[in-house]
Amino acid sequence: MSRYRLENTWSPDPAPYGTLKCTFWNLSDAPLSDFQLAYTSLTRAMKPFAVTGAELARRDANYHLFTPPEGTRLEPGAAWSFEVTNLNRDPRHRTDGAKSAIMTLDVSGAPRHLDVEVSDLFPEGRDLPEPGPLLPEGALTEPYAILPWPAALDLTPGDTPLALCPAPDSDDDALGLFNRVAALHRRLYPEARAVFSMLPMARTRPVALVPEDGPEGGYRIDVGETITVSGDADGLRHGLIVLGQMLHGAAADPTFRFPASGTITDAPRYGWRGAHLDVSRQFWPADDVSRFLDILAWHRMNIFHWHLSDDEGWRLEIKAYPELTSTGATRGPDAPLTPQLGNGAAPVHGFYTQDQVRALVAHAGSLGIDVIPEIDIPGHSTATLAAIDGLADPQEAPDSYHSVQGFANNALNPAREETYDFLARVFDEMVDLFPAEYLHIGGDEVADGSWLNSHYARLLMEKEGLTGTFELQSHFMRRVAGMLAERGKKLAGWNEVAHGGGVDPEGTLLMAWENPEVGIDLARQGYDVVMTPGQAYYLDMAQADDWLEPGAAWAGTSTPVHSYTYEAEGDFPDDLRPRMKGIQACIWCEHFTSKAYFNRLVFPRLCGVAEAAWTPKDRKDLLRYAAIVKLHPVL
Ligand code: ACM
Repeated sequence: MSRYRLENTWSPDPAPYGTLKCTFWNLSDAPLSDFQLAYTSLTRAMKPFAVTGAELARRDANYHLFTPPEGTRLEPGAAWSFEVTNLNRDPRHRTDGAKSAIMTLDVSGAPRHLDVEVSDLFPEGRDLPEPGPLLPEGALTEPYAILPWPAALDLTPGDTPLALCPAPDSDDDALGLFNRVAALHRRLYPEARAVFSMLPMARTRPVALVPEDGPEGGYRIDVGETITVSGDADGLRHGLIVLGQMLHGAAADPTFRFPASGTITDAPRYGWRGAHLDVSRQFWPADDVSRFLDILAWHRMNIFHWHLSDDEGWRLEIKAYPELTSTGATRGPDAPLTPQLGNGAAPVHGFYTQDQVRALVAHAGSLGIDVIPEIDIPGHSTATLAAIDGLADPQEAPDSYHSVQGFANNALNPAREETYDFLARVFDEMVDLFPAEYLHIGGDEVADGSWLNSHYARLLMEKEGLTGTFELQSHFMRRVAGMLAERGKKLAGWNEVAHGGGVDPEGTLLMAWENPEVGIDLARQGYDVVMTPGQAYYLDMAQADDWLEPGAAWAGTSTPVHSYTYEAEGDFPDDLRPRMKGIQACIWCEHFTSKAYFNRLVFPRLCGVAEAAWTPKDRKDLLRYAAIVKLHPVL
């Protein structure tokens, strides 16, 4: 615990975005002078800075460094206040203020940094209603704890067996799958009783696994004296997980039952049932990623989109460039990358070694999950540019352009051969690590105006007859697509890859995040599309409008009811529907300063998106989902 504390409040004047008021207490037993205070806040001060009671010495994205007025001396117990206006937007939720704060002592001597306690942001003088429940209570018409719900089910409830065991004469493949699913259940619910046993006991039920061609990932369960699961390799695993879910539910809560007889016939609605995880803004250690994969598998999801680089950090070991994961994976008060998004005085650092990546990709594969790695280029590249020389134009003026997140000059320069040499070496190592057919290259949120002050970019535009940032971006993307094709990979990216002329749509998959109409438009242009609309599937958005509900607001409020009921196929014309490959939840981690926060925002919505990806529209049932999802594991 620190003996310095920062509280912040917000008031709506002046329009349009109001004022952040900061009060800093010295609760130590020594007077304070010659100090600075920094905080990280997604509600940012914009230029021209408008601060009273302090000077804003530096602002780098959401890092703000303040100097108190000359001669300030804070006695023990005393407070200092300052106010910040000209904000980037008005805060909407309690998590929109300072996420962390850092004191620097002895600024003019030997500076040292200390943590400062922070709390929620409160709006001044406003009564804040208590948020209501996020989901209805829930109700069952069928007493089975299956999530996602199957396409067709006709079961009669029976007694709860002790466990499920392999049928006699099960072959090695069947025993191996039993072992994998049993281990998955044990990892997800280490405190729960085992629902699988390799040995028959009193009250165990034998399960026979019968490989059979059928719809991809589909399965059939016939419940008799022996339970038979049939399907392709993925389908057998799905069926066994469904049996495990039913028994886990029946053992955990008497409202749920295990069937005595009947059938389930099931196949996924979409081939792409994805979840994206941003490990740049906050680093999630390999063990957390492994458990996240387990959670996806339990929900029969099959795509893990791993967002491995962004402005705030590069997280993938590249042997050719150790700087990427030294400089590029470290944030701290004295580091090239400043503290952001809840970081304190101690530097934070994290990346995945190639051995860890191989192990995680193998783990995902054993659970039927493809890992789609993303390095986000050409924008979102502050960490890369801090680590590697030569990828920007040194003649470009500082602050030539800013990303929407407030990073200056954050894009790899498309007119420098060094950029492509760098990417070639990175791709060479990535294709060796990731067997999936796609490599995701980001392509989102390049600020309009990027590179226009670059001499190299100007020359390239002249030579190629290109106009503006997005035609430059398209030129870059086409070269990147070619580099991927040479390495046997297809290009996946965010919807802005199509800007400025885009790339050859053949074999390209784009993720429609800005709004649903974008997805239809991309499909019309011939791209394959995965729907990830922020308004429903961005799990960092707050779950209710209430100030007291945590989360982001820029893409709207995404209630658990909306994430579940939303139909991404919505207005897709019939002829374009085959281009829509599926849906994906996205977990952006700007706000995710702890695992507790992660769990508060990601669940239950991730489970809702999983059901939306699997279950036919006419089989979705909000009350059933609400009743079952309470049983589901968190990170
Ligand atoms: C995104 O949200 N920038 C893909």
